[in-house]
Amino acid sequence: MTRMTASVTVDEGRLFFDGVDVAALGGRVDTPFFLYSQARIAANVAAVRRAFESRHAASRVFFAGKACSNLWFLEQVRAAGAGIEVNSGGELWKALRAGFSPDQAVFNGVAKSRRELEEAVAAGIRGVVADSLCELRRLDEVARDLGTPARVLPRVDVNVAGGTHPGLETASGGKAGIDLGEAMEAFRLTAASEHLELAGLHLHIGSQITEVEPYLRALGVALDLLDDVERELGVTVPALDLGGGFAVSYRERPMRPEGDYFFAGLSVDDYAAAICAEVARRRPALELWVEPGRSIAADTAILVTRVESEKIKRLRDQRGRVVAEDRWLLVDAGYNTFFDPVLYGWYYPLVSVTLPEAPADEDFRVAGPLCDGGDVYGGDADTAYRRLPAATAPGDLLAFYDAGAYTLELMTPYNARPTAAAYAVTEGAEVLRIRAQQSRDDLVALDEAAPLA
Ligand SMILES: Cc1ncc(COP(=O)(O)O)c(C=O)c1O
Repeated sequence: MTRMTASVTVDEGRLFFDGVDVAALGGRVDTPFFLYSQARIAANVAAVRRAFESRHAASRVFFAGKACSNLWFLEQVRAAGAGIEVNSGGELWKALRAGFSPDQAVFNGVAKSRRELEEAVAAGIRGVVADSLCELRRLDEVARDLGTPARVLPRVDVNVAGGTHPGLETASGGKAGIDLGEAMEAFRLTAASEHLELAGLHLHIGSQITEVEPYLRALGVALDLLDDVERELGVTVPALDLGGGFAVSYRERPMRPEGDYFFAGLSVDDYAAAICAEVARRRPALELWVEPGRSIAADTAILVTRVESEKIKRLRDQRGRVVAEDRWLLVDAGYNTFFDPVLYGWYYPLVSVTLPEAPADEDFRVAGPLCDGGDVYGGDADTAYRRLPAATAPGDLLAFYDAGAYTLELMTPYNARPTAAAYAVTEGAEVLRIRAQQSRDDLVALDEAAPLA
């Protein structure tokens, strides 16, 4: 038996996910489908908790629900002892449905509606993150009108670039957070309000941050600010929420010599060691909150897709001369199922489920079934091509690894393709369906021509 990932093994020509024969499962259910691992969810939550709590007792882990807010998944996270970070009233509602208590929830977001703030304050959640002075004033009004104090964490843009994909940077002048120059004012407003209770300072530098150094810089800015706030306003800032962003490795090695954000040479332990050492040095009594999403969810699932068609396309120059020839594999998971590859050019490893022991010796272009020319997967190591066994053919199953974060959340029924089902292998080796495939009826269930009441 060869172990490929924490969940995937290959034995006698079959690929197993937590002991379940994936090709056999693919013969019983429609493709594409996600397959989650209960054991991995528990192990990943435990690893993050251990990494921080063993070094800094006053640490709290809030799973970033945006990474995967499937109810069954959330229940596993809760059972493993993490709290929950939410980014909308809908996510808060799902978190409460999954059994999290309001006291376990932190609410982020750059444009929360009054209704969302009311729901959060009325529920009495642990922290509402205020993303602007405007929102802070609105939160103050909401708390006053409800007669319920709101626990607030101003989110500060600490002006630190995380070195990740530009779409995932969140603390260097983009839309998120309060400008550093207005941060003191946010704390002053909070301290002066009878309806707001200062729960802490919030920051989040981005997702898939592959180095420790941006965290240390962000921490430095935040701790300096904290000192200033306490000195100037005579208040205590009880907690620092450092956000999420710990990277996972989607590649075994960097694609480019200078490194890239698909390769992470660090474990959550490495981040925790550096962060907790700095907190211990400067603020040993501070509560430290973290909001990891990707590092908990990414390797908990694979996406299984079927090759539906193949073709050869010849690339021609202006004079019509053939300059190259591509072998294409057309699979049934496009960006309707797996959005990040087109949204952010995200890379996920791809392997053959049908031929797991055959050498990956042929270059293929791999594309989804949708109508646009952009519904194509990027390649390995800076090329447009994926290496798969040369014998790969229609009917074969392929699997994308590390497909557990920011995937189910982003599915759409584009091109009237019902969204995919998700299954999970339990620790008792049972296969559960944790999300149903949409039906054809679902595709029109919300369409209507109804007069406004
Ligand atoms: C405020 C906030 N916290 C936490 C996260 C989770 O980040 P990650 O999934 O990279 O850990 C995000 C996502 O970018 C976020 O916006």
